[in-house]
Amino acid sequence: MARLEIANLTKRYGALTTVRDVTLDVADGEFLVLLGPSGCGKTTTLRMVAGFVEPSAGVIRLGGRDITGSPPWLRNTGMVFQNYALFPHMTVAENVAFGLEMRKVPKAEREARAMEALRMVRMEAYAARLPRQMSGGQQQRAALARALAIHPDVLLLDEPLSNLDAKLREEVRVEIRQLQRQLGLTTIMVTHDQEEALTVADRLVVMAEGAIRQVGSQQDLYERPADRFVAGFVGRSTFLPGRMAGQGRFVTAGGVDLAVPEAAPGPAVLAIRPEAVHLAPPEGEENRLSGVVEFVSYLGPLIELHCRIAEGEKLVVHVPNRAGMRPPALGETIPIGWPRAAGMVFPDAA
Ligand SMILES: Nc1ncnc2c1ncn2[C@@H]1O[C@H](COP(=O)(O)OP(=O)(O)OP(=O)(O)O)[C@@H](O)[C@H]1O
Ligand SMILES: [Mg+2]
Repeated sequence: MARLEIANLTKRYGALTTVRDVTLDVADGEFLVLLGPSGCGKTTTLRMVAGFVEPSAGVIRLGGRDITGSPPWLRNTGMVFQNYALFPHMTVAENVAFGLEMRKVPKAEREARAMEALRMVRMEAYAARLPRQMSGGQQQRAALARALAIHPDVLLLDEPLSNLDAKLREEVRVEIRQLQRQLGLTTIMVTHDQEEALTVADRLVVMAEGAIRQVGSQQDLYERPADRFVAGFVGRSTFLPGRMAGQGRFVTAGGVDLAVPEAAPGPAVLAIRPEAVHLAPPEGEENRLSGVVEFVSYLGPLIELHCRIAEGEKLVVHVPNRAGMRPPALGETIPIGWPRAAGMVFPDAA
């Protein structure tokens, strides 16, 4: 069993708190994805779990055992670093076998396990190369093999695919996911790529400024974002400042009166997903208004419009590109609408 429990984990550098009271329970075999803007503390969190950074406060348990004070080689965590961190003077095979040597695995078994790990990431042909003789993507896969070779209880992946091209990235992420399932590996992966996060994760964690903002499924984060930050960070939203006027009415700063889900009265921000807005809303839709098209972008499967609904207020609208459809023209006034339930209201302070 490799359930990972992180309780109130905190890291301070002098006066700067970079990880703040992070509590997470990762189930045995679960694939958790960590998302968040640059500098929010993702790497620091993984490094504390792996034992490379000492926490200022908090407890880390692996399989019920407190590992907070254990050195990295006694934790059985496999980590792929953001910058690969391969040893430059060692061949790929030696790099991959290094963790096993630290764990006193006999030489013959080390070599066999290194080759097995290299095969998993399709890098066996590169076993004799030095890191500098390989591309960034190849080094990244070698680093993944190094983490897998120790048969870790927990796999920690810090943007492990960032240097692969789009096609290889898609292939390798599917392979990582299959491998992770086969081996039943408890995994935390950091990524900047939202599509990647949504594809591989069992659950996602959104961090900002060192703290967790929301933990949930893809659908939780997208359809029920906990705050304004998550609504803007996971997927896209148009934000309209204004105020809740009671009885499920929201009045934008530009004076547009809209039907929204009930929320506390006072200053607030309304968020609307681009695909929630459609053209030619049916009779009876709660929000029906007209917008002036100020921007049209042809994105292939969909067309992005920016529609002005009041002075200084624009909505981003994504229209599915149906066969034979004529995209609205710049300057055209078009009917748009969305149901009440599609609006997400956040208190202004969030
Ligand atoms: N050794 C250190 N001393 C002081 N500050 C540090 C140290 N290591 C990291 N930090 C700071 O901690 C914060 C979090 O860094 P971290 O590397 O965890 O961010 P991240 O979420 O992984 O960002 P990125 O997406 O850019 O990789 C940053 O503000 C960083 O400058
Ligand atoms: Mg990082």
